[in-house]
Amino acid sequence: MPPPSSRPPGMPREVVGPLVRGLALLRALASGGGARQASELAKALGVARSSVDRLVSTLARLGYVRLDGREVALAPRLAELGNAYIASTGLADRLGGLADRLADELDESVSLAVPDRDGVRFVHQATRRRAMSLTFRTGDLLPAERGAPGALFAADWDEEQWAAWRARREADAEDETFGALPPPHVDAASCFARRIETAGERGWSLDDELIEPGLLALAMPVRDAGGEQVCAVSVVSHTSRHSAESLEQAVLGRLTGVVAEMSEALRAPSRQCEESGNASARTREPKRELGPEFVESLARGLAVLTALADGSAPLTRVAEATGLARATARRSLLTLEHLGYVVAGGGGFRLTPRVLELGFAQLSGYTLAQLAEPHLARLVAQVRESASLSVLRGGEIQYIARVPTVRIMSVNITVGTRFPAYATSMGRVLLAGLPAAARRALLRAADPAPLTERTVTSARRLDELVRDADRAGYALVDDELEEGLRSLAVPIRDGSGRVVAAANVSTHSGRSTPQESRSALLPSLREAAAAIEADLGVLGRYVRIPAG
Ligand code: PHB
Repeated sequence: MPPPSSRPPGMPREVVGPLVRGLALLRALASGGGARQASELAKALGVARSSVDRLVSTLARLGYVRLDGREVALAPRLAELGNAYIASTGLADRLGGLADRLADELDESVSLAVPDRDGVRFVHQATRRRAMSLTFRTGDLLPAERGAPGALFAADWDEEQWAAWRARREADAEDETFGALPPPHVDAASCFARRIETAGERGWSLDDELIEPGLLALAMPVRDAGGEQVCAVSVVSHTSRHSAESLEQAVLGRLTGVVAEMSEALRAPSRQCEESGNASARTREPKRELGPEFVESLARGLAVLTALADGSAPLTRVAEATGLARATARRSLLTLEHLGYVVAGGGGFRLTPRVLELGFAQLSGYTLAQLAEPHLARLVAQVRESASLSVLRGGEIQYIARVPTVRIMSVNITVGTRFPAYATSMGRVLLAGLPAAARRALLRAADPAPLTERTVTSARRLDELVRDADRAGYALVDDELEEGLRSLAVPIRDGSGRVVAAANVSTHSGRSTPQESRSALLPSLREAAAAIEADLGVLGRYVRIPAG
């Protein structure tokens, strides 16, 4: 605990200092684009370098940050914190599917956003990829006066919230604190009051190029049984497809229908089955391992935060769920409340959307390739052979990530390279992940041709090999794509168990037998694949992770 003299005014006496500083470190990383040097972090936080090193060791041990040379970077597992908030609201679980369906029907982007103080925070994105306009990530924050949902939420603000809004406007007229936003090109604040009034009369709100030229959005509130606005659904379009009037005509009817379904879905009992794990068990082992380098009070505070994934909980339940002493859990909760990540009310504590500022937006912008690269690099360092990741594109595989070994390889492969799936180990595990009919159709359409003397081209034999790969969980291909090239591949599955990519290690076929390569390489390859899958499971729980 900091000595009383160093405690800023308004900070409760029992505040857990390391938790405050650990969260400040995560915010500093998030606002610094996701990675910063430890010395920079020490400066940004105003604490000693040794203190930053301990916080970083602790966060790294929890899998929340990664050390990349001298840089500290956000790690995908940190998305656990944001996931806990999103799970606690049940919004993405209950309404996400309806938002996705609306996006499909309208062929426009659809988002869900919640009020976050005097701003608007995105909690779900169903994005239609179009080149023309920027897209916000899940977790991004908008100032309420820019964008459609804010004019709906501001109707419920009290005097205190308006005062906070005015203070923020005064301190940051150019919206520089909103990293995801281009600078203002119109004065959105001056027409805010009128837009709130119009939205109140119509029951929906319009963003007519408030964020950037060309971007249009129409938003409607979703209300709970008590009539409270819980979130807003926005349909996002562009002036190349619609005017404000034609957007209203095209989407208002469908949007009204879906909002009614969403309100209904909010009334259904929630499906909540988080296991938060035992925090004291989770912190004991690393403490033994790292000693004073592991800051237990930070780890416990973060465990308290994730323990609120089930929604509002009283102190007793938080203490039980984390296995922490009541007094310890209470100090963490008071600290999180002081920082605005938790609110107390109705006999319990619950998470606020502000939790998403802890790196969630940065991480939800990751591709599968970015997520996999550190794991591939570790694999390459272990086995001293090149490793790659690819996805299926029709009957071909396409490389989305590659880490070459220092040794010069005969094949010249880069990200974007394509090969026929039938002649590669990655292709075979990717084909094995498809339903039988789709896999056979692809093999037939590929019209396999010999690329070397050893290329298997018989459709029946290839189908057998793919089924072998499915059973064994890996494929090994020797000299079929190129003489002298041996490749071993395993599938990468997303959180739902679907095969979304393949990882491989390639080597020369002349140096050892296939069995020797398999026993030398397969355990490390599987370990890397499992690490990629674990990251993908956490990060992909509420956001769609594109391949590359
Ligand atoms: C979006 O979901 O990207 C979005 C939502 C509301 C706006 C603008 C963009 O006003």
